Amino acid sequence: MRVGIATDHGGFGLKEELIGQLRAAGHEVVDFGAHSLNPSDDYPDFVVPLAQAVVASKVERGVAICGSGVGAAVCANKVPGVRAALIHDHFSAKQGVEDDHMNILCMGGRTVGLAVAWDLVQTFLAATYSHAERHLRRLGKVASLEIGKQ
Ligand code: RB5
Repeated sequence: MRVGIATDHGGFGLKEELIGQLRAAGHEVVDFGAHSLNPSDDYPDFVVPLAQAVVASKVERGVAICGSGVGAAVCANKVPGVRAALIHDHFSAKQGVEDDHMNILCMGGRTVGLAVAWDLVQTFLAATYSHAERHLRRLGKVASLEIGKQ
């Protein structure tokens, strides 16, 4: 899968580790930065280009990281077409895609270690949207909130 990834300084080390794991697993990775560790950088500068690439289908899925993952999730969800969520557990990494069509997984570089983060990423990438009628209906109601905002 073609996967985009972005972080600020809060997840820089985790992003570098995940890129290695993703490539070793056969994924194509587009790195939206940060490309060096700068404690003064700002997560929107990396998360917004990632989010736009997901919506434009330049990457199939996105992984967005900051210190807590909160800023990354708040920021990514401002881009119409993004369905991002801050995930800490295996169940939500899977169900977030199956039910809610999550297209960007957000994590905290200061709250999850590499083993958990890698499990979350693998689970997220392996899951597919169910297209079940009730989930289509619910997502339709969510998507209607974006009409006129693009
Ligand atoms: C940066 O220090 C930190 O605030 C940021 O990485 C993130 O945790 C915000 O939600």
